[in-house]
Amino acid sequence: MPKAEPRRRSRMRVLVTAGPTRERIDPVRFLSNDSSGRMGFAIAEAARRAGHDVVLIAGPVTLATPKGVRRIDVESARDMLAAAKKEWRSADALFMAAAVADWRPAKQLAGKWRAKDGGAKSARLDLVRNPDVIATLTGGERDPDRVVVAFALETGAGERRALAKLAEKGADWIVLNGPVALNADTTALVVLGADGVRIAIPKRTKAAAARDLVALLRHRDDFRLG
Ligand code: CTP
Repeated sequence: MPKAEPRRRSRMRVLVTAGPTRERIDPVRFLSNDSSGRMGFAIAEAARRAGHDVVLIAGPVTLATPKGVRRIDVESARDMLAAAKKEWRSADALFMAAAVADWRPAKQLAGKWRAKDGGAKSARLDLVRNPDVIATLTGGERDPDRVVVAFALETGAGERRALAKLAEKGADWIVLNGPVALNADTTALVVLGADGVRIAIPKRTKAAAARDLVALLRHRDDFRLG
């Protein structure tokens, strides 16, 4: 028997993650990255405007919450995982646009890190692996009733790596962008589907690209660039 077509409702509960995470070294220092959160915020806004119920889990960013979107602020990857697990129970779709730090300091110091005391010329920071938020939510498996969109920042010819990530993370789609999109108003994207579909979204504003990505929530045969 052919597998049932996934149900796609016009009003879905959409979970979006955005921004960087911060991994604390001590009370005044952390490891983080250059993500501005703009792509994720644009997706949350576009999904809301398309009539969906949207929850936005945001790392530390200075962006305004899009109208009608419920926002949850988090700091670290582990905070993001805890919030995402809770919200995922009642969500139909996920856009995992956050740039989650892969590593965190093995120890978070209660006082300032004083590595230079004693005249040391070098210092080491031990890191441990953070949980993979998206893979934890999906359990590495696709779910025909939900839509999962992962993101990948690739610096070289990254499509092969992105396809491997798509499978590992149990996502339906993976959106590839390059480092030039970081902190910029525009972006150019390549979207790869688990079924082998490849969609190139040429350079456009992040708001316009976000509308294109929200169109992924409909069945892929309905996919239209906005
Ligand atoms: N991701 C996640 N939890 C992590 C790391 C990443 O959920 N601890 C998600 C990201 O939000 C993204 C996808 O996994 O949707 C791909 O991220 P990642 O594997 O980190 O790929 P890149 O961002 O391309 O980074 P890298 O080159 O380090 O693999």
